[in-house]
Amino acid sequence: MYSQITGIGSYLPGPPIGNDELARRGIDTSDEWIASRTGIRFRHLAENGETSSDLALHASRQALAAAGCAAVDVDLIIVATSTPDFIFPSTACLLQAKLGNQGATAFDVQAVCSGFVYALTVADKFIRSGSHRRALVVGAEVFSHILDWSDRTTCVLFGDGAGAVVLEASDKPGILASTLHADGAHHAILSVPGSVCKGVVTGDPFLRMDGQAVFKFAVRVLAEAADECCRIAEVSPSTIDWLIPHQANIRILEATARKMRIPLDKVVISVDRHGNTSAASVPLALDEAVRAGRIRSGQRIMLEGVGGGFTWGAVLLDF
Ligand code: UT7
Repeated sequence: MYSQITGIGSYLPGPPIGNDELARRGIDTSDEWIASRTGIRFRHLAENGETSSDLALHASRQALAAAGCAAVDVDLIIVATSTPDFIFPSTACLLQAKLGNQGATAFDVQAVCSGFVYALTVADKFIRSGSHRRALVVGAEVFSHILDWSDRTTCVLFGDGAGAVVLEASDKPGILASTLHADGAHHAILSVPGSVCKGVVTGDPFLRMDGQAVFKFAVRVLAEAADECCRIAEVSPSTIDWLIPHQANIRILEATARKMRIPLDKVVISVDRHGNTSAASVPLALDEAVRAGRIRSGQRIMLEGVGGGFTWGAVLLDF
């Protein structure tokens, strides 16, 4: 028993916001600085009151339509998010209600920017165990809600969005291999170190990051995870048609491709138009590339995540 992606969808809220627009809004930055350090030119930002489950709903409807099935046909819903609508219930349960599904297993996965790769791997294991037949796996984030808009070192980097896939049981792959890792010793280099206690926000409710430490960590583990995944699947990295790493910074994507000896024209890049959308970045990039006709049926794809925790992982699949 294998699992196979049968439908993909995505959603970006509002119009694209350019780097110059951020500068016009009073952030001490420039298009030149952001573009040259990160490759980011645009991001989308949710409206006030627009939540992760709202974004997830749009992406999920598209994915279900692409798979040719209805929400009631899904028996597993996993939402990867670090910006849930509520402390509880889970965003997956809220999405389930909005979709009109009742009775499916539904829960969130919290692995920050590795969230989608974690969620897809979990769904694959559920399906391969035989307990579930059809999963909706979503990455949805409103990082704009947890950004300190007075901190130019972080607020220019992130955007909001959602991506979703339908993953179904199949007698042929599908997902060939996956690998997930974490090292909590590095939790402080990327975190939102606050919480709510007795009605009061305690600690810091905004995203904080040691950008250079994250950069070095990401480049190292993305290449390692991809190699490991290929070893598990017993395939050569040269058989990969498309590499879709988490979209944080163009320089991280370039360095990863270089380390893996994969030419840059085989790397799907959306960070320039989306910014870093955390758990949504990989399915957003995948959906765009499929809809543009770049990724075609039968091609081999490596998906990769890396982010707060620290967490990282990879999923190798035949599309
Ligand atoms: O999902 C994972 C999430 N995060 C990442 O992947 C981020 C990984 N890290 C990075 O992408 C890079 O480290 C950054 C893009 C965050 C920063 O690039 P950097 O080349 O490491 O810059 P830096 O932090 O060393 O800052 C260089 C200068 C500083 O000024 P001084 O001290 O040299 O005068 C900063 O204050 O750039 C300044 N700076 C800015 N200037 C204009 C920092 N942010 C900005 C800004 N606009 N937005």
